[in-house]
Amino acid sequence: MAKNNTDEDKIYEIAKRKGFFYPSSEIYGGLTGFYDYGNIGTAIKRNIEGLWRTHYLGLGDSYCEIEPANVMHEKVFVASGHLKNFTDPSVRCTKCGAYHRADHIIGEALGKSVEGKSESDMTLLIRQNNIVCPKCGGRLGDVKVLNMMFPTRLGAEEDTLAYLRPETAQGDYVNFLRQFNILRSRLPMGLAIIGKAFRNEISPRQLIIRQREFTQAELQIFFDPEKINECELWEAVKDYQIRVLFVGDDKEVMLTCEELASKRGMPKFYAYHLAKQQQFFTEVLKFPIEKIRMRELSKEERAFYNKIHFDVEVYIDVFKEFREVGGTHYRTDHDLGGHGKISGKSHEIFYEGRRFVPHVLELSLGIDRILFASMSLFYRGTEGREWDWFAFPESIAPFKYAVFPLVNKDGIPEAAEKIYKEIKSRHTATYDSSGSIGRRYARTDEIGVPFAITVDYQTLEDGTVTVRDRDTMSQVRRKVSEIK
Ligand code: GLY
Repeated sequence: MAKNNTDEDKIYEIAKRKGFFYPSSEIYGGLTGFYDYGNIGTAIKRNIEGLWRTHYLGLGDSYCEIEPANVMHEKVFVASGHLKNFTDPSVRCTKCGAYHRADHIIGEALGKSVEGKSESDMTLLIRQNNIVCPKCGGRLGDVKVLNMMFPTRLGAEEDTLAYLRPETAQGDYVNFLRQFNILRSRLPMGLAIIGKAFRNEISPRQLIIRQREFTQAELQIFFDPEKINECELWEAVKDYQIRVLFVGDDKEVMLTCEELASKRGMPKFYAYHLAKQQQFFTEVLKFPIEKIRMRELSKEERAFYNKIHFDVEVYIDVFKEFREVGGTHYRTDHDLGGHGKISGKSHEIFYEGRRFVPHVLELSLGIDRILFASMSLFYRGTEGREWDWFAFPESIAPFKYAVFPLVNKDGIPEAAEKIYKEIKSRHTATYDSSGSIGRRYARTDEIGVPFAITVDYQTLEDGTVTVRDRDTMSQVRRKVSEIK
């Protein structure tokens, strides 16, 4: 379907009006970089999180979810390197005072990524290419790097500094020793967290894509580094094709896991999990493969803790570009080694006759970004009808069924409510008795409900209802007991 420049505005208008998401602290004018999810957005988010749990925790026997605190000890981030390295380049306009992400505005002006360049190199690029403030056209100052973490003071102790975690991952690393014991000292071991992370972004943008508070779903897999080229389930993926964009290439290629391992030197353990990441999008979330790619990051672009780093990117139609929604990160022993040193508690384990610090493969996804990518991918505009609609897969949709009484008299509402309660005991469902049936179909299409059940006079006679399919708008008569 042809999309136009206003689709982002339309999606945001629907998001606010129908309860997907809207500015946080809205009655006070909002807070830049923060959004609240309403009832519909929360339902979709929980569905995506549930699908994530099933898929990722199913990857191994010793894989489970934990829930560490959001506020963490300062030393966690000394050990992880975030205090020193978790920075973004910022530049301030000397005329209007607005702050910008230096790498973003230079990248946009030059049409290529400058991620990882030094402050002085970026300042030089601004001067050489006469790049000005995108807001007011004013002269830009020098580029400075700013730490992105939110510090917070605890209780009355003025000098007790802690931080809101900038990634959920650190919660798993500081729990490693205890959980390894609890989970009977087996490798690979997976610790998963779905929770909030906080980053003081210089210029939050693109709605819920770049926020200051956001939800991550991350699985940390602790494994024996000597087994990085081994994979128990290799047969299951070796012929599976992954859509990859390598550093230096301008076009994606489809390569099997076997080709990635034998021709590109990708460790089998990594390639297997890259396949599992892609399958989450194509097989679980039902995103079309051509909208997804695994983009390799160069040494300069990679997060400071990664040795191998491919981002998961989804093409967001309304932005007309691929956006990162996650990453597959080979973090080596960077984190456990750091925590071992700073805490003074060795993170070495004795395993299969050897003593070593386990390495970590991180499968990281941003839930808010996936939610927005779903809204963009499954947005159908007014295609085939007079109102906007979303073609969400059943597993993501906020409700699977909507139940309508045809009229509000003659015992029909009572019958409809009974059917609604019965369906709701097994599925997610919503009930709507106001306005014309056409209007009610429109309301449910706008939030992407796959099926609408109408209870009418015939229901009272033979127990059948009409079931309308959102995508085709066709209707069939069914016994309530036949609705699966
Ligand atoms: N834990 C990886 C990330 O936040 O991107």
